[in-house]
Amino acid sequence: MCVSILNNHTEKVFTIRNATAHDCDDILRLIKELADYEHKENAVKLTEKDLLEDGFGDHPYYYCLIAEVPGNPDDQARSNVGFAMYYYTYDPWVGKVLYLEDFYVMEPYRGLGIGSEMLKKLCQEAVQRQCTCMHFLVMSQNKASVEFYRRRGATDLSNEEGWHLFTFTEDNLKRMAANQ
Ligand code: ACO
Repeated sequence: MCVSILNNHTEKVFTIRNATAHDCDDILRLIKELADYEHKENAVKLTEKDLLEDGFGDHPYYYCLIAEVPGNPDDQARSNVGFAMYYYTYDPWVGKVLYLEDFYVMEPYRGLGIGSEMLKKLCQEAVQRQCTCMHFLVMSQNKASVEFYRRRGATDLSNEEGWHLFTFTEDNLKRMAANQ
């Protein structure tokens, strides 16, 4: 139902807004859908409670944009169909950086401009906060997204500068933290 409404009146129907604490169930659902899309469906350990505590307390660890469309045309309800999770980091070479962690639009709503509009909002936010750049990771096999970002001018630092993503797992952390 939403799709046909969108196809007829695309540019007027979806809205992008900041997430609220009430969105945590949908944020988790969308995180899981993106993980599924990336064939990492078992990787999501986070709970709704984690998202609530970590994003909507006094010192949020992340921020989130939500893309929504009308739900049932008979009432005012709206459905959350996409999200962008981000936060701010600091780079000792260039200063303030907006880090885009997750970016996702549900399949039936792709290609309608929702992703571009979310990216525009993120850029506006980054400029307003005087960030010098926006960083993000894309799996190399996710060709559609790689091209989506490239068409908008993104540079692949892994290729150009040879960076590798490393992690210390929780076990590593605890072992090293316990070492004398
Ligand atoms: N699906 C995808 N793209 C389509 C489709 C379709 N069915 N139809 C057309 N397109 C084209 C559009 O024409 C547009 O082309 P352009 O780049 O020349 O403008 C582009 O693909 C999509 O533009 P939008 O409609 O503005 O973006 P969309 O709402 O589709 O969102 C996104 C883009 C978020 C990448 C979405 O495709 C998606 O969720 N993909 C799957 C998940 C994913 O890969 N997320 C990014 C992971 S990387 C990260 O999270 C940092």
